[in-house]
Amino acid sequence: MMAKYIVAGNWKMNKLPSETYDFVKSVAAATENAGCEVVCCTPYVCLSKAVEAANGTHVKIGAENLHFEDKGAFTGEVSADMLKDLGVTYVIIGHSERRQYNAETDETVNLKAKKALEKGLIPIVCVGESLEQREAGITMDLISIQIKKAFAGISAEDAKKVVIAYEPIWAIGTGKTATSEQAEEVCGGIRKILAALYCEKCADEITIQYGGSMKPSNAKELMEKPNIDGGLIGGASLVTEDFAAIVKAAN
Ligand code: 13P
Repeated sequence: MMAKYIVAGNWKMNKLPSETYDFVKSVAAATENAGCEVVCCTPYVCLSKAVEAANGTHVKIGAENLHFEDKGAFTGEVSADMLKDLGVTYVIIGHSERRQYNAETDETVNLKAKKALEKGLIPIVCVGESLEQREAGITMDLISIQIKKAFAGISAEDAKKVVIAYEPIWAIGTGKTATSEQAEEVCGGIRKILAALYCEKCADEITIQYGGSMKPSNAKELMEKPNIDGGLIGGASLVTEDFAAIVKAAN
């Protein structure tokens, strides 16, 4: 079995709850004939409206984070059960912005991925190197550590449900996309690491997305590569026509 193509929008801290219903409806309408899974990951406060709008359509809804504990005294946090209760399907874990600004570590990424899987949410685990790390020639060393730590204690059966997003930090929001060769090199490397951790067949079933300034003009070339099974889209996911064009490119 081959990996499923998934194009997911990461809204980050954009759009209001009051804008969400109409926007998700417009995405659903513009991607009606999608040949891949279409996901909108929204801020917590937009999720209930997003789920309501996606109901009865092919669009799935994701959160941008979760807490790894079940419940308790964690002011301001949101649990996996809360997301499930709302009807959320996916959850982004370990985005580089959270690693940078919110003290997310490989250890918390692992705890969150395991909690998401335990509760039946699909984790989108983000990995990626900084420009400094790329220039130092340690990209694959770093990615290898991020992947191995993220998957620690996760069974092969569960690993197949995880989505990985390779997002070079230097390409996020900068307009600087990794070339399709650079992206393929790392995504292919990730597949090899997964094959060594689990098995080749397992690795082939895991969706590996590319993220970082993906837009209608470069999406096709990136997603044509054998080890790139979709995208995690920031800026372009906020404009229906752009997001729909990227979904079309995945077909
Ligand atoms: P941009 O598409 O805006 O570069 O953001 C990518 C990203 O961080 C998606 O998670």
